[in-house]
Amino acid sequence: MDWGMKNRLSKLINPEDGRAVWLAVDHGYFLGPVSKLEEPAKTIKPLIPYTDALMLTRGTLRNCVDTGLKIPVILRVSGGNSIVGPALSNEGIQTSMEEAIRLNASAVAISIYIGTEHEHKTLLSLGQLVNEGQRYGMPVLAVTAVGKELEKRDARYLSLCCRIAAELGAQMVKTYYCDEFSKVVKSCPVPLVIAGGPKLKTGMDALELAYAAVREGASGVDMGRNIWQSEKAVGMIRAIRAIVHENAPVKEAAKFLK
Ligand code: R5P
Repeated sequence: MDWGMKNRLSKLINPEDGRAVWLAVDHGYFLGPVSKLEEPAKTIKPLIPYTDALMLTRGTLRNCVDTGLKIPVILRVSGGNSIVGPALSNEGIQTSMEEAIRLNASAVAISIYIGTEHEHKTLLSLGQLVNEGQRYGMPVLAVTAVGKELEKRDARYLSLCCRIAAELGAQMVKTYYCDEFSKVVKSCPVPLVIAGGPKLKTGMDALELAYAAVREGASGVDMGRNIWQSEKAVGMIRAIRAIVHENAPVKEAAKFLK
């Protein structure tokens, strides 16, 4: 692996503990102004001090984030779909590698939709992105997306998705936590982070999720709604940070929610 690629990766996953807390705020690329992210600048700003990286689109980055940002950016480069369109899986690459470099991104992110009518297209897009990433030293984060089919999230399916993403060259994979998650981790040769998914019933549920994921081998989280849709968004990200970077037990981390 070349110096540029290694250097970018070291900004995203702390080389000391091998862990990462990323804040996902890219949802608008297909969901529009989702609840609590209507004004991204207001949502994002107070969370930045506790985040290792921001995952977002070029539009949100340019319009809603200060250029003095000190943390790395994971640029969402796939899209072309919407929640009201015919198929959420119909994504292509909508932001070029040149843009990612211009925006000083530390990684690019793309969703793959395995088992859908657009599986082939999204996997070839992943391959193309990895080819370009190799040329420029840009890591690729593959997101194993399930669209509206949340029930797909089991170890068998997610192992398949994560392994395919890694085989096609993704340097990092973002997936979901599931029962027997350690099987997913073991069969994926690159670092895995978890998404939070739709907001869980309680903040404690989200902390339990993060705790279980890292205990079973995840490198960390790339979480969105369970952080910024919480009434205590700053407390949530601080608690998740304690779990991911300090191995804090859930009860101890929960002090940030008081
Ligand atoms: C999909 O909407 C995006 O890739 C999100 O970044 C991802 O789902 C993580 O966000 P959440 O924790 O809200 O699921």
